[in-house]
Amino acid sequence: MTESFKASDLIITPATTFKEKPDPTGLVFGTVFTDNMLTIEWSLASGWEKPYIKPLENLSLHPASSALHYAIELFEGMKAYRGVDGKIRLFRPALNMDRMARSARRTTLPSFDQNELLECIRKLVEVEQEWVPYSTSASLYIRPTLVGTEPSLGVKKPTKALLYVILSPVGPYFASGSFNPISLWADPKYVRAWKGGTGDCKVGGNYGSAIYAQQEALEFGCQQVLWLYGEDHQITEVGTMNLFLYWINEDGENELATPPLDGIILPGVTRQSILDLARNWGEFKVSERYITMSDLTVALEESRVKEMFGAGTACIVCPISKILYKGKHLHIPTMENGPEVTTRFLNKLSDIQALVHGMEMSSPPQEIQDAKRLPEKSLMTAQRKDLQML
Ligand SMILES: Cc1ncc(COP(=O)(O)O)c(C=O)c1O
Repeated sequence: MTESFKASDLIITPATTFKEKPDPTGLVFGTVFTDNMLTIEWSLASGWEKPYIKPLENLSLHPASSALHYAIELFEGMKAYRGVDGKIRLFRPALNMDRMARSARRTTLPSFDQNELLECIRKLVEVEQEWVPYSTSASLYIRPTLVGTEPSLGVKKPTKALLYVILSPVGPYFASGSFNPISLWADPKYVRAWKGGTGDCKVGGNYGSAIYAQQEALEFGCQQVLWLYGEDHQITEVGTMNLFLYWINEDGENELATPPLDGIILPGVTRQSILDLARNWGEFKVSERYITMSDLTVALEESRVKEMFGAGTACIVCPISKILYKGKHLHIPTMENGPEVTTRFLNKLSDIQALVHGMEMSSPPQEIQDAKRLPEKSLMTAQRKDLQML
């Protein structure tokens, strides 16, 4: 029985006909895929098979497959970036591998060696390197997926599974020059996640069940859902992003706040990176704390709210300008305040992803020098170790 597949066993039979590569600026997210995919099969009887990189093709699944009936499936979302030096890098991919392993455990899907999967993904990106846009504002989205292919209707741990990875070029989230803020719809009648549930894992069920609320948000003229939780209407996440509030807190301190990882929040890679950067800057208080709608409305009345934004791989950061709550439009003054901090995170993270500083400056900028003093799990670690160079 094979406990994990090995990248050294990869069988690579790449496509011999190639699709035309689109102009990334006009792309709709996740609609165009590259020529090849990675697939690895697993069964309880024989463990993991050898990994394959082969032409992208439809899957052939038994109609009873447990992913289709009971949502025994999970996925990840990460990107490969082409830096200003022409090299291709992944941003802190070990965090994605770790989250994927945790999602697998929670869905009773098989475990695997995270480094071996990362190496297989690296190989796939290498095969598809021409698909990584020659641009610092576009990238190649990577979608690792693990599905239960148990060919029976029993509600049980699957005895068969398929891990696959597909790649999709994506354009800039914000059209050039515009940093469009979004409006949110907050209604406690829908919840995204609950204690003891799967909100802290990246599993399909979390997303499929959220679309109904998203539709209602659109009907109310809002772009995304602000997910609330509990009797006190805690603010948890926004759409498929983590949420940050930059404000003057109840004690009069400048604070960057985001909800704690208490089981209902997805541990975002961008969230972690923003916390790491802000703690490194040391210019304001950085807290993982609860924020309720009443905390927010009182702070708005007292003009203590400076900026509010969502954070995720797709956009890095996305400013928030309005919340519709209990029939009232709350104006969030993010854009009026720069948005200073939101923009700083956007610029800093996109510069790291594109390795702008490494190329454009002979000596590293102050923040990077400071970052050298950070402990093990810092963003500098991310640059040195987790930003894998292809
Ligand atoms: C529910 C949810 N929260 C937050 C995030 C942001 O996570 P990351 O920064 O790893 O993209 C995502 C995106 O994957 C998400 O789906």
